[in-house]
Amino acid sequence: MLDTLQRLPDDPILGLAAIARADENPDKVDLTVGIYQDETGLCPVFKAISEAQRQLTAEETTKAYMPPAGDANFTSGIQKLVLGDNSALIADGRVSAIQTPGGCGALRIGAEIINAAKPGARVWVSDPTWPVHIPLLGSVGLQFQTYRYYNPEDHSVNFDGMVADLAAATAEDIVLLHGCCHNPCGADLSLEQWGVIADMAEKQGFTPFVDIAYQGMGDGLERDAAGLRLLAERLPEMLVAASASKNMGLYRERTGAAIFLGKNADSAGALLSQATVAARKVYSMPPAHGAILAGKVFADASLNAVWKSELEEMCQRINGLRSQLVAKLAGVTDRDFSFIEREKGMFSFLGLSEEQAIRLREEFSVYMLNSSRINVAGVNSSNIDYLAQSIGNVL
Ligand SMILES: Cc1ncc(COP(=O)(O)O)c(C=O)c1O
Repeated sequence: MLDTLQRLPDDPILGLAAIARADENPDKVDLTVGIYQDETGLCPVFKAISEAQRQLTAEETTKAYMPPAGDANFTSGIQKLVLGDNSALIADGRVSAIQTPGGCGALRIGAEIINAAKPGARVWVSDPTWPVHIPLLGSVGLQFQTYRYYNPEDHSVNFDGMVADLAAATAEDIVLLHGCCHNPCGADLSLEQWGVIADMAEKQGFTPFVDIAYQGMGDGLERDAAGLRLLAERLPEMLVAASASKNMGLYRERTGAAIFLGKNADSAGALLSQATVAARKVYSMPPAHGAILAGKVFADASLNAVWKSELEEMCQRINGLRSQLVAKLAGVTDRDFSFIEREKGMFSFLGLSEEQAIRLREEFSVYMLNSSRINVAGVNSSNIDYLAQSIGNVL
């Protein structure tokens, strides 16, 4: 029976990253995979996380299962991180959260909750969106409709197109929004635009599902969550998928949370109970390690301060690289790349053709997706000149 199954093609991003790894050109530049890298090309362990790990190793007495909702320090800390330390919604009991295996797990549990409330509900997703959104939500049975989001001509949000498309979203629909640092395009909504989306949600009744996987990597922890918080303050219900993969460097520890905003404390409690049952059907209990470490970083003031300053440094480095790349490209081509500096987080589309992206790979060992999406954090002082020169060459 099992031999009827065919081999499937490699994941396009991971497949390309594997080709890049095997490339022996000493000048190669790999801008494919979405992990933060420091100046030396390493995806570092945060010092605050190392210290929390040291403490955990010294005090851990059991490897018994975690509670189904996860580590309490983590779930309470991540709610505050996302909704604000002094969130009235949290104080009113309108918020609940379940620890999940990464932001992916949070998206999947959110999809299960939506499907339990309305089987086969329609989810509006941005065009483009992170490709993994589709299998994560679609495998539960949800349907999709896209809304216009990114304008490749001027490298900005096509807000008029977005509003025109979302005018058709109804009270039965979910609208998936990127909380900040849009993946793949890096173009984010302004606070004013988030306000317009809140007006539409109030009027039309659709429910936002905000995926916030990069909080702290665009404009800092507070500003990156401002749009999401604006929606939460105005709307009766909302779902959030949060991740500690990027902003705490816990990628492989699979640390995230699905956060629910209910109309009142009873409904927040009901959503958590539904999420716990949904998790039981998929993976039962969440993994312990990353969430316990993140929980310590949330709960301990001095670890928290160390973590925030490390994250702030990362954020500044990414924004600095964006400016440097614009300046370097201005030295090799007349084409205007200033949009790179306006975009946020790790990703941007360079606006090259597929043919140019392939030439960069084959002739210069410069790896980016065929869509010319780059991970800005893969740029560093040793490769930036070669990168800019190579791009200049294919242009
Ligand atoms: C837009 C977006 N959402 C969610 C995630 C989920 O990340 P993880 O499951 O690693 O926490 C990612 C990771 O790349 C992402 O880019």
